[in-house]
Amino acid sequence: MHEQPLRQWLATLWRFIRWICTPEICPRDPERLLRSPIAAFFRSLTTRESLPSAPPQDKGVTVTSPMKHTKHYYRIAAFLIGAIFLFLIVRAFLIPKSFGEFGFYRADNLSEQKRLPISFAARGDCAACHPDIATRHQQGPHQPVQCQNCHAPLTQHIAGDGTHKAPMPINRASALCLRCHRALPSRPTEFPQIQIVEHTGLAEHELTEGFCIQCHHPHDPRPAGGKHP
Ligand code: HEC
Ligand code: HEC
Ligand code: HEC
Ligand code: HEC
Repeated sequence: MHEQPLRQWLATLWRFIRWICTPEICPRDPERLLRSPIAAFFRSLTTRESLPSAPPQDKGVTVTSPMKHTKHYYRIAAFLIGAIFLFLIVRAFLIPKSFGEFGFYRADNLSEQKRLPISFAARGDCAACHPDIATRHQQGPHQPVQCQNCHAPLTQHIAGDGTHKAPMPINRASALCLRCHRALPSRPTEFPQIQIVEHTGLAEHELTEGFCIQCHHPHDPRPAGGKHP
């Protein structure tokens, strides 16, 4: 997905390798290549033998090489350069293209969100076609509960051009009411809630479809505002 930056980094890496590998360091001839400093360097990374051995004592000659201890630095430098390149390559892969356009944020996220299909209508949009229900609902205690909470998103029901597309689902299950009104210790005590057996005289699994709305009209659930108060 982010091929462009990766290709750039690989090209830079390749140029860097070519720049280091002059013919003196990396000869083309395989014989000379094995004897070249770079081969010696890689051997030194893996074998202990190639470390400079102690000077032969018996000859009474002290061999002092100025390069004797620099090998460690080469290894660290090689390791660091490798780590930096690895980091840059991984970074080029992981950072999305639009990151940073608006600061520490992936700018494409905005257009992605905008492309998501709209399904829910704004609060009150149902009132245009169902004014009586909307008024009743607005005056009752369920006024804070949106129509789409109990029914379904508007787009299932009305097409984009405002025409009737499909019937709106109607959920008459007691479970819908209990979702909000089952007595739970975590609910604020002032919120209306019921102990099912106490309130209905039935166990939860005995509640039939439409049981609660016999006495509570969903659009105005006050017992006096319902169909059969
Ligand atoms: C553009 C007009 C329009 C809008 C906006 C609209 N409706 Fe309707 N609705 C209709 C029409 C038309 C019917 C069909 C009436 C009929 O068949 O008697 C209907 C029927 C319904 C029904 C009854 C379905 C049935 O099976 O009897 C429900 C429930 C309903 N709408 C809920 C809603 C809700 C909730 C909203 C808001 C999210 C809404 N409507 C927004 C036009 C609209
Ligand atoms: C608490 C849940 C709930 C809310 C909120 C709710 N409804 Fe309903 N609605 C129901 C139920 C349940 C029925 C079935 C009632 C019945 O069968 O007596 C229904 C029935 C309907 C019907 C078809 C029957 C009728 O009464 O004409 C329409 C249309 C409707 N609702 C529209 C709306 C609109 C518009 C809103 C928002 C203003 C809304 N509803 C809010 C649960 C709800
Ligand atoms: C999405 C949550 C939700 C759903 C679903 C819901 N209600 Fe409510 N109900 C409320 C809220 C919020 C209130 C208002 C609470 C308040 O006034 O503090 C309320 C109030 C009530 C009241 C109290 C009326 C009074 O006397 O003040 C009754 C009764 C009621 N709902 C019955 C029902 C029934 C029956 C259903 C199922 C058809 C239902 N509710 C579905 C949230 C919900
Ligand atoms: C036989 C009629 C009847 C049925 C069925 C019924 N209720 Fe009630 N409900 C009432 C009456 C009457 C009240 C008001 C007196 C009271 O608080 O007991 C009420 C009150 C409530 C309240 C308000 C409690 C409060 O503390 O303010 C809620 C919430 C409620 N009912 C939810 C439900 C739910 C959910 C169902 C379905 C499981 C249901 N009711 C079934 C008659 C009924």
